[in-house]
Amino acid sequence: MIQLINLPKIVDERGNLSFIEEQHHIPFKIKRTYWIYDVPGGEIRGSHAYKESEEFVVAISGSFDVVLHDGKEEKKYSLNRSYYGVYVPRLVWRKLENFSTNSLALILSSTVFDENDYIRDFQNFLEALKSENR
Ligand code: TYD
Repeated sequence: MIQLINLPKIVDERGNLSFIEEQHHIPFKIKRTYWIYDVPGGEIRGSHAYKESEEFVVAISGSFDVVLHDGKEEKKYSLNRSYYGVYVPRLVWRKLENFSTNSLALILSSTVFDENDYIRDFQNFLEALKSENR
């Protein structure tokens, strides 16, 4: 289920600290971490879904929107703090947009990189959902 997840936030006069533990704060084991940065104004990243990968997306710095479509409806999650993020299950069409200057998107993934895991066509995405009776 798509959900916003609050992370621990250790408030400290010396500077705050947050962290993520696999299978505790997020519901999967982390196989890969990547990040998206230096995004020119107006650009959109990641119009696709994954057959198997689950992801957790955090705005470590700056802000951007995560737009998610579950096959029935589209919802926008605006991320702008480093102590929460959005959990994206498999078979969700996902788009990252509206990046602020110097924003940094950290993405934790349940799989190693595999181009064959991508569904890059929206109609194919809807077909994949249908074949699972969703
Ligand atoms: P892609 O996932 O298509 O980017 P977007 O965020 O726009 O959806 O990845 C862009 C390119 O980077 C593509 O050629 C695959 C490559 N890539 C890797 O090699 N490893 C990775 O972990 C990721 C996420 C992408």
